[in-house]
Amino acid sequence: MSHPATGVLPNPWNIFNLQISPFWQDALGAGDRMHPLSLFVGRDDELQRLVDGLFGAGAGTSRRAIAGRPGIGKTTLIKRFKAQALAAGYLAVDQSVPICGDDTNDSVFGRVLGSVYDTVLSNRPGTIDHPAMQAAQVLVRTTRERVRGGGLSMAGFGASVSQGVANTVPSDVLIDGPRVLRDLMTLVQGSDAKGLLLHINNLENLTEAAAELAGRILRDLRDPMLMHNGLHVIIAGTQDAIQAAVMSHPQIRSVVSVLQLEPLPLSDVHLLLDERYAYLRLDPTKPVIAPVTPDATATLYEHYRGDLRGLLEALDHGVTPNIGLTRVTSTPPGATAGSIRPLTFEQLQPTLRRYYDEQLGALDEEHHVKRLVAWGTTDPHTPQTQQSLSALWEVKQSTVSLTIGYLIHHGYVMPLPRAGRSAMQYLLTGRSRLIFS
Ligand SMILES: Nc1ncnc2c1ncn2[C@@H]1O[C@H](COP(=O)(O)OP(=O)(O)O)[C@@H](O)[C@H]1O
Ligand SMILES: [Mg+2]
Repeated sequence: MSHPATGVLPNPWNIFNLQISPFWQDALGAGDRMHPLSLFVGRDDELQRLVDGLFGAGAGTSRRAIAGRPGIGKTTLIKRFKAQALAAGYLAVDQSVPICGDDTNDSVFGRVLGSVYDTVLSNRPGTIDHPAMQAAQVLVRTTRERVRGGGLSMAGFGASVSQGVANTVPSDVLIDGPRVLRDLMTLVQGSDAKGLLLHINNLENLTEAAAELAGRILRDLRDPMLMHNGLHVIIAGTQDAIQAAVMSHPQIRSVVSVLQLEPLPLSDVHLLLDERYAYLRLDPTKPVIAPVTPDATATLYEHYRGDLRGLLEALDHGVTPNIGLTRVTSTPPGATAGSIRPLTFEQLQPTLRRYYDEQLGALDEEHHVKRLVAWGTTDPHTPQTQQSLSALWEVKQSTVSLTIGYLIHHGYVMPLPRAGRSAMQYLLTGRSRLIFS
């Protein structure tokens, strides 16, 4: 078998009649040939609500937060929504604006201004000479030059360039910036476009302190940054980050409507994989052999509780080392001996356990790992509180807090959405459950 069009070299996935591994973990993106939005499945209700909110705002402005655990599909849903808005006459770009732990009002405003500028320019290149665009260009250029000069492209050239410098922007961005942004939005309103979508992402990578900081920044910048007519802001993050950054300030809470994202139903997960198999089919005259059985997908998905990225990563790590190596013990009717068949959960499990166990062993802070092992070997399925862990580990609550933070950061523990005022609960993630159960 050879690749029909591009003449790439063969790889083991070809035995399933697939061009490459279908288990990549990137968000789908408009204009991205490897991960096209045509692979999007389900989420009809959520999309409808997003579209209704957007259209309902008319010529005004709207703000929406998408809350959900890591890997549940927030970024992909927003990208799909942006594509739909684009088709309806709004301006949008594939990129999003991150908020980081060491951000300031200036740096966030500078980045948002840059994103609005890019969005107008990408969608309406003819506007580049408009006075509002020219004025924005000056500010965006200084902002980015400062960032680039201090950070990104210089990263790796010695320690003399500190993180602080990398994220510093001229503080006068908040003197001229608000007027410049307002003029940009006036330009959008006067154009043929229905409005502009601004996508703020990555609130999920923030620590609790950083999420609180992001909340203060959003509150301080609410009027000059978020409330322009024609501007539609959409913010993605975990429940806790959205709670800290959006819900804890009345000024922000009152102008943002939150959409809680639930796990994709299992039937849609099967569909997601089928779409990828069909898209990556090597020989169009032959069917694809699914690399895993539907049962294996279902069992793994249960471990991962809605975390699609975790599930896809596990499928990739579980299948890759086993391709072509599974022993055929019995030959079901219709199959010839030695033919390629989907892997079962039982075949994937030892590989996954070994893989994630090795990853765990490679972590640098052994005392945290030991505590995870104590938890996993006692009871891997029940949620714990800081108090119950304090008893289990026989350490102070402040120590529990440190360990929990470390284990969440490395993907072995996840916080559950807080129910009212009750104590925060924590659960082992899919990879931990694969190691311990
Ligand atoms: N509705 C969907 N249809 C198809 N694939 C999806 C869908 N939602 C998520 N995915 C896939 O699941 C993985 C995780 O999605 P992502 O949007 O990155 O999650 P999050 O932003 O919540 O962490 C990605 O590989 C993405 O392509
Ligand atoms: Mg994301």
